[in-house]
Amino acid sequence: DKGNHRHFMQKEIFEQPIVVAQTLRSYLQRLEGQIVLPIPEFDLSGIKRVTIVACGTSFYAGMVAKYWFEQFARVPVDIDVASEFRYRAPVMEPGGLMIVISQSGETADTLAALRHAKAEGQTIAAVVNVPTSSMAREADLLLPTHAGPEIGVASTKAFSCQLAVLAALAANLAKAKGRLSVEDERALVRHLGEAPAAINGALAYDEAIEAMAPLIASARDVLYLGRGTDYPLALEGALKLKEISYIHAEGYAAGEMKHGPIALIDDAVPVIVIAPSGPLFEKTVSNMQEVQARGGKVVLISDYDGIEAAGEGCLATITMPKVHPLIAPIVYAVPVQLLAYHVAVAKGTDVDQPRNLAKSVTVE
Ligand code: M6R
Repeated sequence: DKGNHRHFMQKEIFEQPIVVAQTLRSYLQRLEGQIVLPIPEFDLSGIKRVTIVACGTSFYAGMVAKYWFEQFARVPVDIDVASEFRYRAPVMEPGGLMIVISQSGETADTLAALRHAKAEGQTIAAVVNVPTSSMAREADLLLPTHAGPEIGVASTKAFSCQLAVLAALAANLAKAKGRLSVEDERALVRHLGEAPAAINGALAYDEAIEAMAPLIASARDVLYLGRGTDYPLALEGALKLKEISYIHAEGYAAGEMKHGPIALIDDAVPVIVIAPSGPLFEKTVSNMQEVQARGGKVVLISDYDGIEAAGEGCLATITMPKVHPLIAPIVYAVPVQLLAYHVAVAKGTDVDQPRNLAKSVTVE
Protein backbone atom coordinates (compact mmCIF):
# COMPACT_ATOMS: atom_id res chain seq x y z
CA ASP A 1 0.00 0.00 0.00
CA LYS A 2 1.42 3.35 -1.07
CA GLY A 3 -0.59 5.33 1.46
CA ASN A 4 -0.91 8.90 0.23
CA HIS A 5 2.22 8.61 -1.87
CA ARG A 6 2.28 8.46 -5.62
CA HIS A 7 4.96 5.77 -5.82
CA PHE A 8 6.49 3.18 -3.52
CA MET A 9 9.86 4.86 -4.01
CA GLN A 10 8.50 8.13 -2.64
CA LYS A 11 6.88 6.34 0.29
CA GLU A 12 10.12 4.53 1.05
CA ILE A 13 12.19 7.73 0.89
CA PHE A 14 9.83 9.31 3.41
CA GLU A 15 9.90 6.27 5.69
CA GLN A 16 13.60 6.75 6.34
CA PRO A 17 13.42 8.66 9.64
CA ILE A 18 11.34 5.83 11.11
CA VAL A 19 13.19 2.86 9.69
CA VAL A 20 16.64 4.27 10.45
CA ALA A 21 15.50 4.88 14.04
CA GLN A 22 14.09 1.34 14.11
CA THR A 23 17.37 -0.09 12.85
CA LEU A 24 19.50 1.96 15.24
CA ARG A 25 17.40 0.79 18.19
CA SER A 26 18.88 -2.68 17.89
CA TYR A 27 22.47 -1.36 17.75
CA LEU A 28 22.54 1.56 20.20
CA GLN A 29 21.90 1.68 23.91
CA ARG A 30 21.30 5.38 23.99
CA LEU A 31 20.97 5.83 27.74
CA GLU A 32 24.22 3.99 28.43
CA GLY A 33 25.89 5.67 25.45
CA GLN A 34 26.97 2.30 24.10
CA ILE A 35 27.00 0.55 20.76
CA VAL A 36 26.03 -3.12 21.07
CA LEU A 37 25.93 -5.49 18.11
CA PRO A 38 23.35 -8.30 17.96
CA ILE A 39 26.24 -10.82 17.74
CA PRO A 40 27.47 -10.92 21.36
CA GLU A 41 29.25 -14.26 20.87
CA PHE A 42 31.65 -12.85 18.29
CA ASP A 43 34.91 -11.21 19.38
CA LEU A 44 35.93 -8.49 16.92
CA SER A 45 39.30 -7.74 18.50
CA GLY A 46 41.20 -10.30 16.38
CA ILE A 47 40.06 -8.90 13.02
CA LYS A 48 43.04 -7.75 10.98
CA ARG A 49 41.40 -7.21 7.64
CA VAL A 50 37.88 -6.93 6.29
CA THR A 51 36.57 -7.89 2.85
CA ILE A 52 33.32 -6.26 1.73
CA VAL A 53 31.32 -7.59 -1.21
CA ALA A 54 27.98 -6.38 -2.59
CA CYS A 55 26.27 -5.11 -5.76
CA GLY A 56 24.71 -1.83 -6.86
CA THR A 57 23.50 0.47 -4.13
CA SER A 58 24.54 -2.02 -1.43
CA PHE A 59 28.06 -1.87 -2.85
CA TYR A 60 28.08 1.92 -2.43
CA ALA A 61 27.04 1.50 1.21
CA GLY A 62 30.07 -0.78 1.51
CA MET A 63 32.31 1.88 -0.05
CA VAL A 64 31.20 4.40 2.57
CA ALA A 65 31.88 1.79 5.27
CA LYS A 66 35.44 1.30 4.01
CA TYR A 67 36.20 4.93 4.90
CA TRP A 68 34.73 4.38 8.37
CA PHE A 69 36.48 1.06 9.14
CA GLU A 70 39.81 2.50 8.12
CA GLN A 71 39.34 5.84 9.86
CA PHE A 72 37.89 4.63 13.18
CA ALA A 73 39.26 1.12 13.58
CA ARG A 74 42.42 1.39 11.42
CA VAL A 75 41.55 -1.96 9.86
CA PRO A 76 42.35 -2.32 6.15
CA VAL A 77 39.36 -3.02 3.93
CA ASP A 78 39.25 -4.73 0.58
CA ILE A 79 36.01 -4.07 -1.32
CA ASP A 80 34.69 -5.27 -4.63
CA VAL A 81 31.50 -5.78 -6.56
CA ALA A 82 30.42 -9.38 -6.15
CA SER A 83 30.52 -10.19 -9.86
CA GLU A 84 34.26 -9.35 -9.99
CA PHE A 85 35.31 -10.61 -6.59
CA ARG A 86 35.08 -14.32 -7.28
CA TYR A 87 36.91 -14.23 -10.57
CA ARG A 88 40.03 -12.34 -9.53
CA ALA A 89 41.59 -14.86 -7.12
CA PRO A 90 41.08 -12.55 -4.12
CA VAL A 91 43.57 -12.91 -1.26
CA MET A 92 41.79 -13.34 2.06
CA GLU A 93 43.41 -13.25 5.47
CA PRO A 94 43.08 -16.73 7.09
CA GLY A 95 40.20 -16.49 9.52
CA GLY A 96 39.35 -13.03 8.19
CA LEU A 97 35.98 -11.33 8.19
CA MET A 98 33.91 -10.93 5.07
CA ILE A 99 30.90 -8.63 5.08
CA VAL A 100 28.20 -9.08 2.47
CA ILE A 101 25.63 -6.32 2.12
CA SER A 102 22.27 -6.92 0.46
CA GLN A 103 18.74 -5.66 0.75
CA SER A 104 17.16 -8.85 -0.62
CA GLY A 105 19.72 -11.33 0.66
CA GLU A 106 19.20 -13.20 -2.62
CA THR A 107 21.40 -11.38 -5.18
CA ALA A 108 23.05 -14.26 -7.03
CA ASP A 109 26.51 -12.72 -7.41
CA THR A 110 26.72 -11.72 -3.74
CA LEU A 111 25.45 -15.12 -2.59
CA ALA A 112 28.02 -16.87 -4.77
CA ALA A 113 30.79 -14.66 -3.34
CA LEU A 114 29.58 -15.48 0.18
CA ARG A 115 29.78 -19.22 -0.53
CA HIS A 116 33.20 -18.89 -2.10
CA ALA A 117 34.60 -16.96 0.87
CA LYS A 118 33.00 -19.35 3.35
CA ALA A 119 34.67 -22.28 1.62
CA GLU A 120 37.95 -20.37 1.98
CA GLY A 121 37.49 -20.20 5.74
CA GLN A 122 36.24 -16.64 6.11
CA THR A 123 33.77 -15.70 8.82
CA ILE A 124 30.78 -14.20 7.04
CA ALA A 125 28.80 -11.28 8.44
CA ALA A 126 25.67 -10.38 6.47
CA VAL A 127 24.03 -6.95 6.53
CA VAL A 128 20.67 -7.90 5.06
CA ASN A 129 17.14 -6.57 5.11
CA VAL A 130 15.25 -9.84 4.58
CA PRO A 131 15.88 -11.98 7.67
CA THR A 132 14.64 -15.19 6.04
CA SER A 133 16.85 -14.79 2.94
CA SER A 134 19.55 -17.18 1.74
CA MET A 135 22.34 -14.82 2.84
CA ALA A 136 20.84 -14.40 6.29
CA ARG A 137 20.67 -18.17 6.66
CA GLU A 138 24.12 -18.96 5.29
CA ALA A 139 26.08 -16.24 7.08
CA ASP A 140 27.81 -16.89 10.39
CA LEU A 141 26.79 -13.51 11.80
CA LEU A 142 23.59 -11.66 11.02
CA LEU A 143 23.48 -7.86 11.19
CA PRO A 144 19.92 -7.05 10.14
CA THR A 145 18.64 -3.78 8.78
CA HIS A 146 15.06 -3.09 9.81
CA ALA A 147 13.95 -1.11 6.76
CA GLY A 148 10.79 -3.20 6.25
CA PRO A 149 9.80 -4.45 2.79
CA GLU A 150 11.30 -2.35 -0.02
CA ILE A 151 9.09 -2.50 -3.12
CA GLY A 152 10.51 0.19 -5.43
CA VAL A 153 13.24 -1.22 -7.67
CA ALA A 154 15.43 1.75 -6.76
CA SER A 155 16.87 1.05 -3.32
CA THR A 156 16.47 3.95 -0.89
CA LYS A 157 15.55 3.15 2.70
CA ALA A 158 17.58 -0.08 2.61
CA PHE A 159 20.67 2.03 1.81
CA SER A 160 20.29 4.44 4.72
CA CYS A 161 19.65 1.52 7.09
CA GLN A 162 22.71 -0.30 5.76
CA LEU A 163 24.78 2.81 6.49
CA ALA A 164 23.38 2.98 10.02
CA VAL A 165 24.36 -0.66 10.70
CA LEU A 166 27.79 -0.27 9.11
CA ALA A 167 28.51 2.87 11.16
CA ALA A 168 27.63 0.94 14.33
CA LEU A 169 29.84 -1.94 13.21
CA ALA A 170 32.77 0.38 12.45
CA ALA A 171 32.44 2.00 15.87
CA ASN A 172 32.26 -1.40 17.53
CA LEU A 173 35.33 -2.61 15.70
CA ALA A 174 37.16 0.55 16.79
CA LYS A 175 36.12 -0.20 20.36
CA ALA A 176 37.29 -3.81 20.13
CA LYS A 177 40.63 -2.51 18.84
CA GLY A 178 40.99 -0.16 21.83
CA ARG A 179 40.62 2.89 19.59
CA LEU A 180 37.43 4.32 21.02
CA SER A 181 37.32 5.90 24.44
CA VAL A 182 34.17 5.75 26.54
CA GLU A 183 33.57 9.45 25.81
CA ASP A 184 34.13 9.01 22.08
CA GLU A 185 31.72 6.09 22.01
CA ARG A 186 29.13 8.14 23.86
CA ALA A 187 29.59 10.97 21.33
CA LEU A 188 29.22 8.59 18.36
CA VAL A 189 26.04 7.14 19.86
CA ARG A 190 24.70 10.66 20.23
CA HIS A 191 25.58 11.59 16.64
CA LEU A 192 24.05 8.40 15.21
CA GLY A 193 20.98 8.95 17.35
CA GLU A 194 20.57 12.34 15.68
CA ALA A 195 20.30 10.78 12.21
CA PRO A 196 16.49 10.28 12.09
CA ALA A 197 15.79 13.93 12.95
CA ALA A 198 18.42 15.09 10.46
CA ILE A 199 16.83 12.92 7.74
CA ASN A 200 13.56 14.66 8.55
CA GLY A 201 15.32 17.98 8.09
CA ALA A 202 16.58 16.80 4.69
CA LEU A 203 13.08 15.65 3.65
CA ALA A 204 11.81 19.17 4.29
CA TYR A 205 13.64 20.14 1.10
CA ASP A 206 11.40 17.89 -1.00
CA GLU A 207 9.35 20.64 -2.63
CA ALA A 208 12.38 22.71 -3.53
CA ILE A 209 13.97 19.68 -5.17
CA GLU A 210 10.75 18.98 -7.05
CA ALA A 211 10.80 22.57 -8.29
CA MET A 212 14.32 22.23 -9.70
CA ALA A 213 13.77 18.78 -11.26
CA PRO A 214 12.80 20.14 -14.71
CA LEU A 215 16.26 21.75 -14.95
CA ILE A 216 17.80 18.28 -14.79
CA ALA A 217 15.08 16.37 -16.63
CA SER A 218 16.01 18.02 -19.94
CA ALA A 219 19.69 17.05 -19.70
CA ARG A 220 21.25 14.23 -21.68
CA ASP A 221 24.15 13.71 -19.28
CA VAL A 222 24.60 14.53 -15.61
CA LEU A 223 27.74 14.31 -13.46
CA TYR A 224 27.88 13.81 -9.69
CA LEU A 225 30.98 14.80 -7.71
CA GLY A 226 32.04 14.17 -4.13
CA ARG A 227 35.12 13.50 -1.99
CA GLY A 228 35.64 11.07 0.88
CA THR A 229 32.37 9.38 1.87
CA ASP A 230 30.59 11.71 -0.56
CA TYR A 231 32.37 10.00 -3.44
CA PRO A 232 30.34 6.76 -3.05
CA LEU A 233 27.29 9.00 -2.63
CA ALA A 234 28.09 10.60 -5.99
CA LEU A 235 28.18 7.10 -7.50
CA GLU A 236 24.89 6.28 -5.80
CA GLY A 237 23.30 9.51 -7.07
CA ALA A 238 24.33 8.70 -10.62
CA LEU A 239 23.01 5.12 -10.33
CA LYS A 240 19.68 6.31 -8.93
CA LEU A 241 19.26 8.86 -11.72
CA LYS A 242 20.14 6.50 -14.56
CA GLU A 243 18.04 3.59 -13.36
CA ILE A 244 14.78 5.47 -12.96
CA SER A 245 15.04 8.49 -15.30
CA TYR A 246 17.18 6.86 -18.05
CA ILE A 247 19.40 9.94 -18.13
CA HIS A 248 23.07 9.09 -18.57
CA ALA A 249 24.84 9.94 -15.33
CA GLU A 250 28.32 9.34 -13.90
CA GLY A 251 29.72 9.77 -10.43
CA TYR A 252 33.32 10.82 -9.94
CA ALA A 253 35.68 11.53 -7.10
CA ALA A 254 35.79 15.35 -7.33
CA GLY A 255 39.57 15.38 -7.64
CA GLU A 256 39.48 13.03 -10.65
CA MET A 257 37.63 15.56 -12.83
CA LYS A 258 40.81 17.14 -14.08
CA HIS A 259 42.14 13.74 -15.18
CA GLY A 260 39.65 13.41 -17.99
CA PRO A 261 35.95 13.89 -17.34
CA ILE A 262 36.25 17.68 -17.25
CA ALA A 263 36.45 17.47 -21.04
CA LEU A 264 32.73 16.64 -20.99
CA ILE A 265 31.77 19.89 -19.31
CA ASP A 266 29.72 22.47 -21.14
CA ASP A 267 26.57 24.38 -20.30
CA ALA A 268 24.37 21.42 -21.19
CA VAL A 269 25.80 19.12 -18.50
CA PRO A 270 24.43 19.68 -15.00
CA VAL A 271 26.96 18.80 -12.30
CA ILE A 272 25.64 17.80 -8.88
CA VAL A 273 28.25 18.55 -6.20
CA ILE A 274 27.84 16.85 -2.81
CA ALA A 275 29.92 18.83 -0.32
CA PRO A 276 29.00 19.20 3.35
CA SER A 277 31.16 21.82 5.06
CA GLY A 278 34.14 20.19 6.78
CA PRO A 279 37.78 19.33 6.11
CA LEU A 280 37.22 18.28 2.47
CA PHE A 281 34.97 21.21 1.58
CA GLU A 282 37.57 23.66 0.23
CA LYS A 283 39.11 21.08 -2.08
CA THR A 284 35.73 20.01 -3.46
CA VAL A 285 34.73 23.61 -4.00
CA SER A 286 37.87 24.28 -5.99
CA ASN A 287 36.98 21.30 -8.23
CA MET A 288 33.48 22.76 -8.52
CA GLN A 289 34.92 26.10 -9.59
CA GLU A 290 36.94 24.38 -12.30
CA VAL A 291 33.63 23.09 -13.61
CA GLN A 292 32.00 26.53 -13.39
CA ALA A 293 34.92 28.15 -15.19
CA ARG A 294 34.10 25.91 -18.17
CA GLY A 295 30.44 26.89 -18.21
CA GLY A 296 29.22 23.88 -16.20
CA LYS A 297 25.91 24.33 -14.38
CA VAL A 298 26.32 23.30 -10.77
CA VAL A 299 23.75 22.11 -8.25
CA LEU A 300 25.46 22.35 -4.87
CA ILE A 301 24.24 20.16 -2.01
CA SER A 302 25.72 21.42 1.24
CA ASP A 303 24.73 22.85 4.62
CA TYR A 304 23.97 26.49 5.33
CA ASP A 305 27.65 27.40 5.87
CA GLY A 306 28.69 25.63 2.69
CA ILE A 307 26.01 27.31 0.61
CA GLU A 308 26.93 30.68 2.12
CA ALA A 309 30.59 30.14 1.23
CA ALA A 310 30.20 28.72 -2.27
CA GLY A 311 26.59 28.84 -3.43
CA GLU A 312 26.95 31.93 -5.58
CA GLY A 313 26.95 31.27 -9.29
CA CYS A 314 25.31 27.86 -8.92
CA LEU A 315 22.34 26.83 -11.03
CA ALA A 316 20.64 25.73 -7.80
CA THR A 317 21.52 24.90 -4.20
CA ILE A 318 20.08 22.36 -1.77
CA THR A 319 20.53 23.16 1.90
CA MET A 320 20.95 20.27 4.32
CA PRO A 321 20.93 20.46 8.11
CA LYS A 322 24.42 20.80 9.59
CA VAL A 323 25.37 17.31 10.80
CA HIS A 324 28.31 15.39 12.22
CA PRO A 325 30.47 13.90 9.41
CA LEU A 326 29.61 10.37 10.59
CA ILE A 327 25.95 10.74 9.70
CA ALA A 328 26.42 13.04 6.69
CA PRO A 329 26.25 10.16 4.15
CA ILE A 330 22.95 8.99 5.66
CA VAL A 331 21.47 12.49 5.53
CA TYR A 332 22.89 13.48 2.12
CA ALA A 333 21.49 10.28 0.58
CA VAL A 334 18.05 11.88 0.90
CA PRO A 335 18.40 14.83 -1.54
CA VAL A 336 20.20 12.52 -3.97
CA GLN A 337 17.23 10.12 -3.88
CA LEU A 338 14.66 12.91 -4.09
CA LEU A 339 16.40 14.49 -7.05
CA ALA A 340 16.37 11.21 -9.00
CA TYR A 341 12.77 10.63 -7.99
CA HIS A 342 11.46 14.03 -9.09
CA VAL A 343 13.45 14.01 -12.32
CA ALA A 344 11.97 10.61 -13.19
CA VAL A 345 8.46 11.84 -12.35
CA ALA A 346 9.05 14.92 -14.51
CA LYS A 347 10.10 12.64 -17.36
CA GLY A 348 7.09 10.38 -16.84
CA THR A 349 9.01 7.12 -16.50
CA ASP A 350 7.80 4.09 -14.55
CA VAL A 351 9.50 5.01 -11.29
CA ASP A 352 8.82 1.83 -9.31
CA GLN A 353 9.33 -0.60 -12.20
CA PRO A 354 12.01 0.89 -14.48
CA ARG A 355 12.58 -0.88 -17.77
CA ASN A 356 14.98 -3.84 -17.94
CA LEU A 357 15.39 -4.05 -14.16
CA ALA A 358 14.29 -6.51 -11.48
CA LYS A 359 14.10 -5.83 -7.76
CA SER A 360 16.14 -8.88 -6.95
CA VAL A 361 18.80 -10.05 -9.41
CA THR A 362 18.95 -13.82 -9.03
CA VAL A 363 21.08 -14.64 -12.07
CA GLU A 364 24.88 -14.32 -12.15
O1 M6R B 1 19.23 -6.85 -2.87
P1 M6R B 1 20.59 -6.25 -3.07
O2 M6R B 1 20.90 -5.15 -2.11
O3 M6R B 1 21.67 -7.34 -3.02
O4 M6R B 1 20.58 -5.67 -4.52
C1 M6R B 1 21.76 -5.12 -5.08
C2 M6R B 1 21.45 -4.32 -6.33
O5 M6R B 1 20.84 -5.13 -7.29
C3 M6R B 1 20.56 -3.12 -6.03
O6 M6R B 1 21.09 -2.29 -5.04
C4 M6R B 1 20.33 -2.29 -7.30
O7 M6R B 1 21.54 -1.72 -7.71
C5 M6R B 1 19.23 -1.26 -7.07
N1 M6R B 1 18.29 -1.29 -8.15
C6 M6R B 1 19.77 0.15 -6.93
O8 M6R B 1 18.77 1.08 -6.71
